[in-house]
Amino acid sequence: MAHVRAFTLGVLLLAAAATCNAAKTACPSRTGYQVFADMHYGTTSALSTFSSMAAAESSCQSASSCVSFSSLGETVSGTVTLTASIGVCVYIKGICPVKSGYTAYNHTTMLLVRSDETISGSHAAGAEVACTANRNCPGFSVSASGSSGGTFFATQGKIKSLSFQYGQCTYLKNNLEGYTCAPKYGYTNMYHTSAEGAEGAYGSVSGDMPGGAANAEMACKVNPKCTAWSTDGKVQIGGVRKLNTEQYGTCTYLKDPCPPMAGFTAYPDFTDATTAYSFQDKTLCVADTYTRCFNDATCQGFDMLRKFWTSKPNPTSRQFGMCTYVRASGY
Ligand SMILES: *[C@@H]1O[C@H](CO)[C@@H](O)[C@H](O)[C@H]1NC(C)=O
Repeated sequence: MAHVRAFTLGVLLLAAAATCNAAKTACPSRTGYQVFADMHYGTTSALSTFSSMAAAESSCQSASSCVSFSSLGETVSGTVTLTASIGVCVYIKGICPVKSGYTAYNHTTMLLVRSDETISGSHAAGAEVACTANRNCPGFSVSASGSSGGTFFATQGKIKSLSFQYGQCTYLKNNLEGYTCAPKYGYTNMYHTSAEGAEGAYGSVSGDMPGGAANAEMACKVNPKCTAWSTDGKVQIGGVRKLNTEQYGTCTYLKDPCPPMAGFTAYPDFTDATTAYSFQDKTLCVADTYTRCFNDATCQGFDMLRKFWTSKPNPTSRQFGMCTYVRASGY
């Protein structure tokens, strides 16, 4: 079905326990919402449960008091708190107006490498003006409730990380990549880290792209053998030998070892050695394996050996290089 390919994917934001072989869910994006992958509600009083994700979504869409729905078929009005939960996608209504030259991250605050590098603090407009005027300002963060409270600040130094904060908007400048370390879909974000390649061994190369970060990102995206790229313009083909931390001003993005498949949780280096699969079709290419499983409501998962499961696979046996995909509830 054509609509499968029309999925665009939301930005993964919370890299809380980021390791490059952690299980990750590719949450299909929804217009007007920001998606938080592998997260679920913390303690929240105003939660309603529906029979399906679609029912929760349409209820949330039509109720102005609803601020969020989840892939488990729940809605929340009031404030949202989040806690890590593999396989769950939380959609929260966007609250941050678009500002040119910046990307808006809803319900997000930023931590700074040096907290004394804030340049403006009293109101939203001041923070934006100060940041736009300062070429060392990678971003500003303002309370969406405007003058009624919250925090407002811009920075003239590097950003350490982003984290969830309900009601806060963080704006990252689009052309200061080494300072913002903005989240990238399909990659694990290594803030202020540079990468060294394995230098010839195992067919590895490490090269500088003329044109810097943007070209390195593009070169890595289109090359399946690329394992990482950095905002200093480096692209890694093959193994990354070493990651150097505390390299302020350089961000490295490690390509997720299993390509994201919308609506599924990817388990790198794990297989299910016990649950019986229903069939195997070795002739399929990867994209067709995904489409076949996604479009069959009885299919609950598949792996790179083109095995298909009708009950949810439980990938708990180590197998290096394997990717096992488990359908996320609700999709
Ligand atoms: C934040 O919300 C706005 C709309 O309210 C949306 O346009 C934007 O894409 C959202 N940002 C992200 C990173 O999802």
